[in-house]
Amino acid sequence: KIIPVIMAGGKGTRLWPLSRASAPKQFIQFIGDKTLFQATLSRVSDPKLYEAPVVITNEDFRFLVAEQARELGIKLSGILLEPVARNTAPAVAAAAAFVEGRFGEDAILQVLASDHEITADAGYFDAIRIAKQTALSGKLVTFGIAPTEPATGYGYIEIGEALPAGACTVKRFVEKPGLAEAEKMLSTGGFVWNSGIFMFKAGQVLSELSNFAPEVEAAARTALAKASSDLDFTRLDAQEFAASPDISVDYALMEKTSNAAVVPSSFTWSDLGSWDAVWKLGARDEAGNVASGKTTLINTRNSLVMSRTSHLAVQGLDGVAVIASEDAVYVGRLEDSQDVGKIVKQLAATK
Ligand code: GDD
Ligand code: MG
Repeated sequence: KIIPVIMAGGKGTRLWPLSRASAPKQFIQFIGDKTLFQATLSRVSDPKLYEAPVVITNEDFRFLVAEQARELGIKLSGILLEPVARNTAPAVAAAAAFVEGRFGEDAILQVLASDHEITADAGYFDAIRIAKQTALSGKLVTFGIAPTEPATGYGYIEIGEALPAGACTVKRFVEKPGLAEAEKMLSTGGFVWNSGIFMFKAGQVLSELSNFAPEVEAAARTALAKASSDLDFTRLDAQEFAASPDISVDYALMEKTSNAAVVPSSFTWSDLGSWDAVWKLGARDEAGNVASGKTTLINTRNSLVMSRTSHLAVQGLDGVAVIASEDAVYVGRLEDSQDVGKIVKQLAATK
């Protein structure tokens, strides 16, 4: 069986003010009746295919994780807590070491982002089946999504030769290219987006990490060896974990390894990383608007209007996001969605 590892320690700052430091986007409801984290849990809850999931998150979110899993009645294999945020490379390393200790070095991990909108249709489970076979052969498996625009917030994977199970080798992995490079890859063709889901053997990913990011691997392993546990929580040792470089698994490992594979996939996927992505995925009316909560829109087009509190009226605007949370309002152009994180930085600096 596959052991799901859900990474739920991100900050989601581009979705301010709905996504907040105290409850980032993976723990809030955007579409449907579950939070993104809960939807992720549900996708890996088939007991025929999966063991109980492992969640790795920041210490600050431990109650959100425990409570949201409990709400669904889903039992976890464990909750690993990071004392400080060091991005996804040490998170993956610590989770892999945890799984290796419990299930052995040949255990297959499926590492998942906790904040994506995915439709788990037949195409999705097909991709999982192919990935599992490919991971069993010792590959680091990624899932490739057909790109639709030269987005700069994703990893790009150049597809290589076909492998037996239906996956392909990876010629090149380029994390978050500049716009010019993204445009070039799109026009050249042969590239897919990295979905942010990975599959590999616990021992395999650890040995590759010790090769390409030895400080990350060592810090994570030692932090786990010195961890303390209470109830379902495993607290990684603060001093040891903080010694890890702050780096994502994409930069630390996926760009460097020559042992990656990709499963070209066709399931419905959205990173939901920014307001324009929420607008694109939402149910647009004939004027191109997506609205939720108490709203009135007049002479307004191609806009995202969401209110969690007071009545929000928008008149005479085109291509904007107007988002009202309990205690803050954001108004901006949808095309500036990638820069919302700057507001959060400024707010933090002026606090
Ligand atoms: N435990 C833990 N600790 N989780 C984290 C941390 C951390 O320090 N930082 C981020 N995460 C979680 C986030 O909550 C999210 O679920 C996942 O890890 C990915 O992190 P992001 O910060 O959202 O990454 P990204 O979107 O910039 O880039 C990644 O995903 C893209 C697809 O959405 C990369 O893998 C790209 O290559 C990929 O295209
Ligand atoms: Mg993301």
